[in-house]
Amino acid sequence: MGLAVRPFLIRSLKYISFLTLFIPAQWSAAANMSLSPGDPNSYSRPDLAVVTHIDLHLRVDFDKKVLVGSVILDVKKSGDTNEVILDNRGLTISTVLNVADGSPLEFVKGESVTYGSKLSIKLPQVQSPNNTYKIEIQYATSPSASGLQWLEPEQTAGGKYPYMFSQCQAIHARSILPCQDTPSVKATYTAEIKAPANLTVLMSALHDGIVESGGDIRIHKFHQPVPIPVYLIALAVGKLVSQRVGPRSHVWAEKELIEQSAFEFSETETMLRTAEDICGPYVWEIYDLLILPPSFPFGGMENPCLTFVTPTLLAGDRSLADVVAHEIAHSWTGNLVTNANFEHFWLNEGFTMFVQRKIQGRIHGDKFRDFSAIRGLKALRETIAVCGETDLLTYLVPNLIGMDPDDAFSTVPYEKGHTFVYYIEQLLGGPEVFEPFLKSYLNTYKYKSIVTLTWKGYLYDYFKDKVDVLNSIDWDTWLYRPGMPPVIPAYDTTLTQVCRELADRWLHWDENTTSPFNMSDITKLSSNQKIEFLAELLLANETLSQKKLEVMNQVYKFDPMKNSEIRFQWIRLSLKGRWRAKVSLALTFVTEQGRMKFIRPIYRDLYAWEEVRQQAIDTFLANKHKMMYVSAHAVAEDLCLNSDV
Ligand SMILES: *[C@@H]1O[C@H](CO)[C@@H](O)[C@H](O)[C@H]1NC(C)=O
Ligand SMILES: *[C@@H]1O[C@H](CO)[C@@H](O)[C@H](O)[C@H]1NC(C)=O
Ligand SMILES: *[C@@H]1O[C@H](CO)[C@@H](O)[C@H](O)[C@H]1NC(C)=O
Ligand SMILES: *[C@@H]1O[C@H](CO)[C@@H](O)[C@H](O)[C@H]1NC(C)=O
Ligand SMILES: *[C@@H]1O[C@H](CO)[C@@H](O)[C@H](O)[C@H]1NC(C)=O
Ligand SMILES: *[C@@H]1O[C@H](CO)[C@@H](O)[C@H](O)[C@H]1NC(C)=O
Ligand SMILES: [Zn+2]
Repeated sequence: MGLAVRPFLIRSLKYISFLTLFIPAQWSAAANMSLSPGDPNSYSRPDLAVVTHIDLHLRVDFDKKVLVGSVILDVKKSGDTNEVILDNRGLTISTVLNVADGSPLEFVKGESVTYGSKLSIKLPQVQSPNNTYKIEIQYATSPSASGLQWLEPEQTAGGKYPYMFSQCQAIHARSILPCQDTPSVKATYTAEIKAPANLTVLMSALHDGIVESGGDIRIHKFHQPVPIPVYLIALAVGKLVSQRVGPRSHVWAEKELIEQSAFEFSETETMLRTAEDICGPYVWEIYDLLILPPSFPFGGMENPCLTFVTPTLLAGDRSLADVVAHEIAHSWTGNLVTNANFEHFWLNEGFTMFVQRKIQGRIHGDKFRDFSAIRGLKALRETIAVCGETDLLTYLVPNLIGMDPDDAFSTVPYEKGHTFVYYIEQLLGGPEVFEPFLKSYLNTYKYKSIVTLTWKGYLYDYFKDKVDVLNSIDWDTWLYRPGMPPVIPAYDTTLTQVCRELADRWLHWDENTTSPFNMSDITKLSSNQKIEFLAELLLANETLSQKKLEVMNQVYKFDPMKNSEIRFQWIRLSLKGRWRAKVSLALTFVTEQGRMKFIRPIYRDLYAWEEVRQQAIDTFLANKHKMMYVSAHAVAEDLCLNSDV
């Protein structure tokens, strides 16, 4: 997912204090134990019987807000077992059949815990000569499926048609289909989706055409020939149009946003070519972008063939397109070489930040690469300040036993991970030495799922002549200790320096003297530097008074700026200065879009300000039914509501 997408931890205080009390002594050992092929967040046992292909046949029912139909799974048995074990979350399973002869198969649903239950299905008794079976599961999703978002027409830009989209990462695929919901399993998929004829259906796959099925229904066919983990299955249904933006790329959006989107993401092909130069050939054939409705909880989601992005990237100046560089990078780091479970999420996200910033560096210059890294590091500092230097979730490789990975997501795997890879690149002699390794690593482990020690082993293999250098890395601290990284690389500060200097001038200005500021202070700053300037002020120990903020607004005109990142920082700075008149602006901002990167810190700021706390809670309660499950769940935690939402 796009970095920054989940800047803060979703934390269940109850759970943390339990860990703090009872687990720390075993922590490192437990982290090492998880290096087994097992996945603490899945019931499945792919080591015994594994799903190799998924064939979906679903009807999209907007009235009932469910998907109904069946999935046919190809299962290959490798161990001594008579069952295949799947994950399930809230699915209604009606029948399970042996496709070979249509006979029913027994199945048992286990007890439900917070993130799902175990679904055991007896394999056919007739032995298959090659140990492969096709089983058909007829089922329906729940109207409250955690991986699906159903929007009423009023919640779309056009206002006339309903909309539905999915978000499976980390472990919500199990709310959409019975599956082995662990990234250690990769399968190809095919799908036939029935939907109202006046809507478009898109998936994270190649299109195989549309069949009119008579009446108001059309069947949309897809196939994904590259084996993927189920968290990359994606579906969106809405009133959509497309526009070509490159030889292998279209943007898809509601027609109200299509022109703006095509403009904003016109650099897609340049980014793809740059990424191929760094990582090797692009194997997914097409790279399309879908601009989601505002309730999409993330910056972007790297669904193969079809990246999902938030409309908050539509800044009008392409300044926020770095999220696209990020999702493109995932075409290799994450989607080709995949973390085997979410304890090793940094292999997905840390490497993706690293590739993203290399792409940015190639396009905008190395100074920009470091500028972006410094901003990332700042986000990491803030996360660690919020959750504490010793928090167990600030480990690069945390222990997720008994924990929903959504509750562990933060900037840590992104930015601590990025820092680690950047540090190693410099230590080994820089990009000339490290980039060939990166290509070789990606080529060696493509189509596979790996853990941290697999990567480390390959690094040692590849740099046989530099074992001493590698041994100088403090592996244990980097991987299995909490807090900030043990080494911070010396980044080029050229582009951040001006932001800091301007921030200092504001902090030191005596507000009883005439304002020395004017618009020319910021006309030469890029949008990203304006964001950085505001971020500096936000993180400073001193608080800008309301009076200074009013002057700043008069001089720089932040209020009317549309760029969502500038709005975000500006609102937070206003709240920090306890500028009461800006509270309504903040409440509007957290209501009109659902990107967690934005709404969570603002809700937390509002919560921390006692006078407006209740107003924030009331706003959330009035709007939570319009939010995607994961955002509502997270904000409830931020507002200490700790209830089921
Ligand atoms: C965990 O693994 C690391 C790296 O292999 C090792 O240095 C460390 O001692 C291990 N910790 C425990 C508690 O086994
Ligand atoms: C296994 O055998 C069945 C029936 O003989 C055949 O249809 C299927 O293609 C085979 N599958 C594999 C993976 O070889
Ligand atoms: C779209 O088609 C459905 C039937 O499939 C119909 O109920 C609905 O009214 C149509 N919507 C519009 C806006 O035409
Ligand atoms: C500005 O003036 C006010 C009242 O005249 C005074 O209370 C305040 O301390 C002064 N601020 C500074 C920074 O000197
Ligand atoms: C704006 O401020 C700068 C530095 O504070 C000053 O040099 C410049 O003359 C000012 N420009 C205008 C138009 O006032
Ligand atoms: C902010 O305050 C902390 C603790 O009081 C201090 O360690 C830090 O250096 C200060 N930062 C700045 C930029 O002054
Ligand atoms: Zn990502």
